[in-house]
Amino acid sequence: MALVTTKEMFRKAYEGGYAIGAFNINNMEIIQAITEAAEELRSPVILQVSAGARKYAKHEYLMALAQAAIKDTGIDLALHLDHGADFEICKACIDGGFTSVMIDGSKYSFEENIALTKKVVEYAHANGVTVEGELGKLAGVEDDVHVTADDAMFTNPAEVEEFVTRTGVDSLAIAIGTSHGAYKFKPGTKPQLRFDILEEVARRLPQFPIVLHGASSVPQEFVDEINALGGKMPDAIGIPESMLRQAAKMAVCKINIDSDIRLAMTAGIRRVLTQQPDVFDPRTYLSVARDEVRKMVKHKIVDVLGSNNTL
Ligand code: G3H
Ligand code: 13P
Ligand code: ZN
Repeated sequence: MALVTTKEMFRKAYEGGYAIGAFNINNMEIIQAITEAAEELRSPVILQVSAGARKYAKHEYLMALAQAAIKDTGIDLALHLDHGADFEICKACIDGGFTSVMIDGSKYSFEENIALTKKVVEYAHANGVTVEGELGKLAGVEDDVHVTADDAMFTNPAEVEEFVTRTGVDSLAIAIGTSHGAYKFKPGTKPQLRFDILEEVARRLPQFPIVLHGASSVPQEFVDEINALGGKMPDAIGIPESMLRQAAKMAVCKINIDSDIRLAMTAGIRRVLTQQPDVFDPRTYLSVARDEVRKMVKHKIVDVLGSNNTL
C-alpha cells in the first residue's frame, strides 16, 4: 500500500457514479479519524493539506503521519495540496512527496490562470503528480483569501474545454453555488447548486473529473451543541447533503470537506470539558473529538459520497 495519485481513484469514481471525499488534515487525530473510517468502510479517500495546515503541523509531520496511516490501515491514500497559491508551494509539495496538488489561479484572469496552471502541470506531470485547477470563484474564506458573495462567480462552461486542453490539468474545481467556511448561507435562504452548469461542463468535458470545494453541510446539531455549551457560532446553513449526493452521481469525483471536521471536533471537545470539568488530560477530549470526526466521515462516505465498498 502506498501514497497514490488521484488518477485511478477518479477514473473509478466517474464510472461508478460516486465521489471521493477530500478531507482537510491538520493533526494526528484528524488523520486517524478519516483513515480509520475509510478502512472500515472500504472507501478511497484523499487527505488534503492547506498552506495553513502545512504551517501549523509542518510538511514532514503531515507526510510521516500519512505514511503511518497507510501502514496502520492498509489502504492507499492520496496526499493533496489544497489551494496552492503559487508555483513555489506546489513545487515544494511535489518535491516533498505529495501525490497531488491544486494550483488555485481562480483569482487571476483567464490567461494568467492558464499560464500559471500549465507551469505547475508541466512540473507535476514530470514528477508523476496529478494536478487540480480551478475556474470560477467561490464565496467564503480560505487562508488569507476572503471572497465576498458579490465577488463570487459561477464557472463559465464555455471556458472549460480551452482551460483543460491548454493547461493539461487532471481535474477541475468549478463554482456552482458551494461556498467555503462554516457560515455559508443565512438561515431562511435556500442554497441552490447550479446543476445546469455542472451538466453543461460534463457535456463539454466527457469523463473528466470535476471537483466541488466548500461542500461542508454545517450540521445543525454541531452548531446547536457548541452554542448550548457557551460557543458563539452564528446560525448558518451549509450545502444540503442531498444536493451533494446528486452531484456525486454526476461528473463530480472529489468533494472537499473541512468545516464539518472543525465543527465535529469542537462540539466533542466542548462536551467533554463541560461535562467533566476536572479533565485536563488532552487525550480525554481529543479521543472524543477523534470519535466525532470518524462518525462524521463515515456518514459522508455512506450517505453523501457513495464511495463505501469500492476498494
Ligand atoms: O478551503 C480551505 C480549507 O478549509 C482550508 O482552510 O486555510 O484555514 O486551513 P485553512
Ligand atoms: P468547507 O469549508 O465547506 O469544508 O470547504 C473546504 C474546502 O473546500 C477545502 O478546500
Ligand atoms: Zn476549497
